[in-house]
Amino acid sequence: MNGERFNVNNMRNDFSDLTPKQIVVELDKYIIGQHDAKRNVAIALRNRIRRMNVKGDIQKDIVPNNILLIGSTGVGKTEIARRLAKIANAPFTKVEASKFTEVGYVGRDVESMVRDLVEQSVHLVREKKNEEVKGKAAEAVDEAILDILIPPVKTAGFVRPSTSISIDFNPEQAPDDELNERTRDRFREKLKNGELEDRKVEINVKQSPPVGIGMIGNGMMDDASMAGIQDMISGMMPKKTKKRKVTIAEARKILMEEETSKLVDFDEVKEEALRLAENNGIIFIDEIDKIASKSGKGGGGPDVSREGVQRDLLPIVEGSAVNTKYGIINTDHVLFIAAGAFHVAKPSDLIPELQGRFPIRVELNSLTEDDFYRILKEPKNALTKQYQALFESEEVFLDFNDEAIREIAKLAFQINEEVENIGARRLHTVMSHLLNDFLFEVPDTIEANSKIMITQEMVQERLTSLVKNRDLSQYIL
Ligand SMILES: Nc1ncnc2c1ncn2[C@@H]1O[C@H](COP(=O)(O)OP(=O)(O)O)[C@@H](O)[C@H]1O
Ligand SMILES: [Mg+2]
Repeated sequence: MNGERFNVNNMRNDFSDLTPKQIVVELDKYIIGQHDAKRNVAIALRNRIRRMNVKGDIQKDIVPNNILLIGSTGVGKTEIARRLAKIANAPFTKVEASKFTEVGYVGRDVESMVRDLVEQSVHLVREKKNEEVKGKAAEAVDEAILDILIPPVKTAGFVRPSTSISIDFNPEQAPDDELNERTRDRFREKLKNGELEDRKVEINVKQSPPVGIGMIGNGMMDDASMAGIQDMISGMMPKKTKKRKVTIAEARKILMEEETSKLVDFDEVKEEALRLAENNGIIFIDEIDKIASKSGKGGGGPDVSREGVQRDLLPIVEGSAVNTKYGIINTDHVLFIAAGAFHVAKPSDLIPELQGRFPIRVELNSLTEDDFYRILKEPKNALTKQYQALFESEEVFLDFNDEAIREIAKLAFQINEEVENIGARRLHTVMSHLLNDFLFEVPDTIEANSKIMITQEMVQERLTSLVKNRDLSQYIL
């Protein structure tokens, strides 16, 4: 069986099982409103699978369904893309387009977003593989610890290690190795039951070689070859080991890492990660409006560099091969989601070729006071729930009554209108200001098992004067 192929197909199945409707249901658990955007990202995800399954030459001609999310700040653009990736278990990376217009950036730097994507992918695949070998690795670790406690007869000539464990056995009763085996069995049992976790043992700990070989070929190589060479050099340096006396519990952690990396073939990880990024990767390009030149303005100055960045982005979005330290990745099937407020520039100010690569345009709605109320309350990771969890970790029980949540939503909305509209981000600053005193008092004056009920009056008392004072709220809320 071709292991690599098998795995890639496996991964593909994971997310191709999700229908557009199911994806929207998942997104609904975290994001309030924005149905249009949810629908479209769900379709785009599904279309990618559809496109990969198209037979014949036409497959190459089907343009990927990259998406342009248009909406002001803090309405959920990034959150939707991030959640989509989580749901699809897809490697995800986010980049601000405007950073490529900064001084010092050169054309090929835009490829760094693809390298980041592969990095994320390696991380995902490695986690998955580590998880797969976890049981096996744990067994190997137990055996390794047993070897330290009771060295195998044949090798060490039965020298008891310097641990303080006494083993009561009678050497007359059985041949050495059988006896040894029985002792090991007993200790294996004790290890499994966690009876020995606090005992100290001496183990060899690998030390990573010093880093900082950064000057080679400065400026003559791209990041990928640079990193490759660094890896190669550190691979060639002899690995130093150091003896350390640690508890069995700690030894288990250290050895677990070693055993896992022995069981996971990194070449396989690399290969699988490249395929996963190619087929399942999502790149989020934020602030794309900042690299659109406003129409009507002729050449000169920053506009040239903005258009330059668009031209550099184009091959990546169109599909090209990018060299990374793990190998070459083809970006043909990578899903690109671009986002911007487009308050000044319009999508039509992007160069036509790039416009053509983002055929799906979705406008996100500005959030209403009622949306704020729901955002505070409903999502799985809603702010009220986050704070409750924080307090609960000290056994203080925080609750909000409904009017209080309404009041917070109302005030947040008001500040957005009066000061600056930063969307749902405003809820973070408002909540933090509202709860800061409590957070400071726990556990000193507000002790464990206390209850805090946030009421409308409390919210007003703490926030209304601030909201009224524009100068103050600019800084604090
Ligand atoms: N529609 C929404 N539903 C739930 N939370 C939201 C929504 N819009 C924004 N948020 C929250 O506000 C914060 C900023 O959202 P984000 O998606 O980063 O905004 P942007 O549109 O600027 O990318 C995040 O904490 C996010 O969870
Ligand atoms: Mg954002």
